[in-house]
Amino acid sequence: MFRPLTAILLVLSHFIPASVAGRSRKESFPAQEIFSFPPSNPVFIENLLPLPDNRILLSHFGAPGPDTAIYVLNSTTYPASVSIVGWLPNSTSQTGIAALGENHYAITAGIVGTNFEFIKGTGAVYVIELKNGENKAKVVDRVPVPNTINLNGLVAIPPLRGKHSKGKRSHILLSADSRGGRVFRIDLKARTAKVELTDAKLGGDPSNPEAGSIAITGVNGLALRKGQGRFDGWLYFANSAQGIVGRIKVDERGYQVVGKKGKVEVLGWITGRVTLGNFFDDMDVDEQENVYVGWVTERVLKIGKGTGKQTIVLGPEVVNRTVEVRYPTAVKVGLNGKKKEIFVAGGGIGGDGTMLGGQVIRVGI
Ligand SMILES: *[C@@H]1O[C@H](CO)[C@@H](O)[C@H](O)[C@H]1NC(C)=O
Ligand SMILES: *[C@@H]1O[C@H](CO)[C@@H](O)[C@H](O)[C@H]1NC(C)=O
Ligand SMILES: *[C@@H]1O[C@H](CO)[C@@H](O)[C@H](O)[C@H]1NC(C)=O
Repeated sequence: MFRPLTAILLVLSHFIPASVAGRSRKESFPAQEIFSFPPSNPVFIENLLPLPDNRILLSHFGAPGPDTAIYVLNSTTYPASVSIVGWLPNSTSQTGIAALGENHYAITAGIVGTNFEFIKGTGAVYVIELKNGENKAKVVDRVPVPNTINLNGLVAIPPLRGKHSKGKRSHILLSADSRGGRVFRIDLKARTAKVELTDAKLGGDPSNPEAGSIAITGVNGLALRKGQGRFDGWLYFANSAQGIVGRIKVDERGYQVVGKKGKVEVLGWITGRVTLGNFFDDMDVDEQENVYVGWVTERVLKIGKGTGKQTIVLGPEVVNRTVEVRYPTAVKVGLNGKKKEIFVAGGGIGGDGTMLGGQVIRVGI
């Protein structure tokens, strides 16, 4: 059922990063798997978004189509339960998720080809309305993104305040086109999608062809800092092919800041060579500017604000580890600022390459 992945499974186990532990302090972080799809229905979780009512919206990759289910976890109980709250028409895979405000969410989706890419012309942003505590989502819009074969990490620029403001809902999205090594700016009101951010640090790495589909997967994860109320102008990103996490300046309308001020700042590098089994996936940044990035195949890395100090918060190096993450695809900082927790999506591929089912893990940080 998940044919594109099988090609990479065989090679995964051969590329374990050397001396990961050497660069990272050993600490203990309480972690709990709150949900896992069963091996009999091994959905590959691609991304996640905590909702204000304590539920978690999921996106997933590699469904048969012609429509994809919108999965929501109810984590009131342990383990959490999953429900299908709606369907995205004409799609076989979903990628980024962003909160727009006023119970509206954007999900990018399309029809996947043979190498994880969207077949050209099928990528789109779906806007859904999902009210707190309700189990039915309504697809209220679909804005096509025609000139791309990839839409990946997704963020919504907070709505402008003051005289330009009408309502509290975001309508500007930034979407990572991993294969194009660039970021689209999508305006849901004007219904336009244009390439906006370009930089060598967003691109792939043609000098490392052994990394296969990862060598051509540049900017992957995107994130904005949480909790400040106002957008601080930094777009954080993870680049799979180059094995870096960085940030780049955008203005409050989601346009790239050019010139000296627009220079990309690299915040951290991956340990070891980038391979099909050693790369960064999607990420998030907390209020204190610490970055958390999914590090395939079995880790989540924290990169400390300012210091760049790297700490493994989920993975074999964690002291008294209780949970193993399977192929971490995404991280989201929890909405309860006092609790200091992150939610991690595991795609679901086990260490031996078997597809066991996507999982969601809560980690206290
Ligand atoms: C790990 O567990 C042991 C045994 O319960 C405990 O003594 C130790 O303090 C724990 N280490 C950390 C860093 O939590
Ligand atoms: C789905 O795709 C088909 C074929 O391209 C098209 O006729 C139909 O209108 C699409 N449906 C939606 C809801 O986009
Ligand atoms: C979540 O689960 C709890 C406990 O079973 C239930 O009371 C609540 O109604 C559920 N929420 C939704 C939105 O279904």
